[in-house]
Amino acid sequence: MASAHKSSCASDASAATSAAQALSAPNAGDIPAPENLPGEYKELRERFQRTTNALASAAHDLKTPLSILNGYVELLQTEKLGSLSERQRTVLRDMEASGKRLQQFVQDFLTYSALETGGLNMQFQPGNVNDCLGGVCRLWSNRFQEKGLALYFLANENLPVFPFDAPKLERVISNLLENAYKFTPQGGTVWLHVEPHMWDRRTASLPSTAERRRQDLKQPNAAKISVADTGPGIPAEFHQEVFDDFFRLSSNENEEGMGLGLSIARRLVQAMGGKIWVESDPGAGCKFSFLIPYKPIAVKPSTLSAKGKAR
Ligand SMILES: Nc1ncnc2c1ncn2[C@@H]1O[C@H](COP(=O)(O)OP(=O)(O)OP(=O)(O)O)[C@@H](O)[C@H]1O
Ligand SMILES: [Mg+2]
Repeated sequence: MASAHKSSCASDASAATSAAQALSAPNAGDIPAPENLPGEYKELRERFQRTTNALASAAHDLKTPLSILNGYVELLQTEKLGSLSERQRTVLRDMEASGKRLQQFVQDFLTYSALETGGLNMQFQPGNVNDCLGGVCRLWSNRFQEKGLALYFLANENLPVFPFDAPKLERVISNLLENAYKFTPQGGTVWLHVEPHMWDRRTASLPSTAERRRQDLKQPNAAKISVADTGPGIPAEFHQEVFDDFFRLSSNENEEGMGLGLSIARRLVQAMGGKIWVESDPGAGCKFSFLIPYKPIAVKPSTLSAKGKAR
């Protein structure tokens, strides 16, 4: 049976040391009395935020030197500084790919810490979701082709123009497509699909007759976006945990990644007032779906938990 582990994230040595100190487990003798728990929780939360800030500033400091290095690699590839041998071109291509991957890690960590510390502002602008998704698909299509994967985008003309945060939505789709690309073996197929959806948000305080599904109102009030693949799938017992911070299945230990992509996607979707989930049977691929409401609901970042379930 598949098991899971949380990956470690290499970063600046001093920041990592302070992170380890800040998060180290207490001895049995240190367990606080019940009346002190709220104070202890507050202190831990503050320590966690300070640690996240320290790691974010280390990640931020990596950004500039990294883009300079990537810039020099690009300059060398133009051969303006001298012609290259085939071997040198291959080395530069590898350097370029690694540089881009590192940039992605840094970007992921910065987004993660912005979400964790409440520093992320949502910007909802009316737009066409089909155009936004089509644009992300085009960015990925070459990589899919190179790996021998088919990528299909099924747009839907019935979607209205509604306000959404396009860069954050692109980020969610990219994270899902990246996983589909990474985990689906050569020859597989990936579908990106969008459709109008009638989302009934049920709350305990609503009398049941007020629920939209009981009023026979069929007007869609949300966009449902799905990324489905023909990869190895995810066992049912991990369908919640895959959205936790730093969670990875041990079956994909050889693949690169920090286990942050889905937790970032979940927080971004929740910050848009939506929800995300996965359906999958091992061996039969995965389908990740999320809803974003046509009327955005501002959700305070502090209410987005580190675990797969919203608080
Ligand atoms: N499409 C998929 N098919 C199979 N397993 C998946 C798929 N998407 C996610 N998973 C599983 O969920 C885990 C968490 O995904 P997540 O995107 O958060 O992390 P990652 O891809 O390992 O690393 P990162 O996104 O930080 O580069 C993955 O490591 C993998 O085990
Ligand atoms: Mg990922």
